[in-house]
Amino acid sequence: MLDPFTPDLKRPLIAPSILAADFAHLGNDCRDAMAVGADLLHVDIMDGHFVPNLSMGPAICGAVRDACPDTYLDVHLMVQDPQFFFKPFAQNGANAISFHIEVMRSEEHARELAEEVRGLGCNPGIVINPPSDVRTMLPVIDAFDLVLVMSVNPGFGGQAFIPEVLEKCRAIRPLLRPEQRLEIDGGINPETAIQAIDAGVDLLVAGSSVFGKPREQWAPIIESLRGPKTHA
Ligand code: DX5
Ligand code: ZN
Repeated sequence: MLDPFTPDLKRPLIAPSILAADFAHLGNDCRDAMAVGADLLHVDIMDGHFVPNLSMGPAICGAVRDACPDTYLDVHLMVQDPQFFFKPFAQNGANAISFHIEVMRSEEHARELAEEVRGLGCNPGIVINPPSDVRTMLPVIDAFDLVLVMSVNPGFGGQAFIPEVLEKCRAIRPLLRPEQRLEIDGGINPETAIQAIDAGVDLLVAGSSVFGKPREQWAPIIESLRGPKTHA
């Protein structure tokens, strides 16, 4: 399994979001995406409260874990009460568990939950929505392995990239330790990926620009999402 936090692994990593996969053939889609160059898989969890949509629960995560035993699974909790879901997802194969700064009661709350996720053997991540002020997140980012900047308002795949969030990426990047990753999620395609990488992002989620395209295009698209070949 590729560990995204391996110290010498500097290249941008690509995480296809299974929200855009064919749910009737989910295992095949996941295996095929990994086989053609994806680095890990992104699993979007929506509760119908924090976002106006429902997606999938721990059992689906477990099914992906069974289909892809060696794949790092990045679980993104778009939920009002993330703490109820840490254990079920950790037990169903999650490697990273990220939750939103918008549902934290305080800085202490965010730090406590990060430790809970770590205690379950997973990497904690903190996520910020486009309208939220980056200053709400900065005081706690040291406690997380992943810092995820949403580049669409969460809830649905296939939305247009919001370029204003690149400012957040530029503000966060210099504050991160080398082993932390700066992730972006929403509206990523080969053009927006270049802008994100330029702003310091090194983990890119892509749903419709991978799974929404014909299978024969997945390999070249994933490669072009890594940006120009300036990396080792
Ligand atoms: C949005 C989700 C994203 C979504 C991205 O609510 O968090 O991960 O799957 O999909 P695209 O890449 O289609 O914007
Ligand atoms: Zn997501």
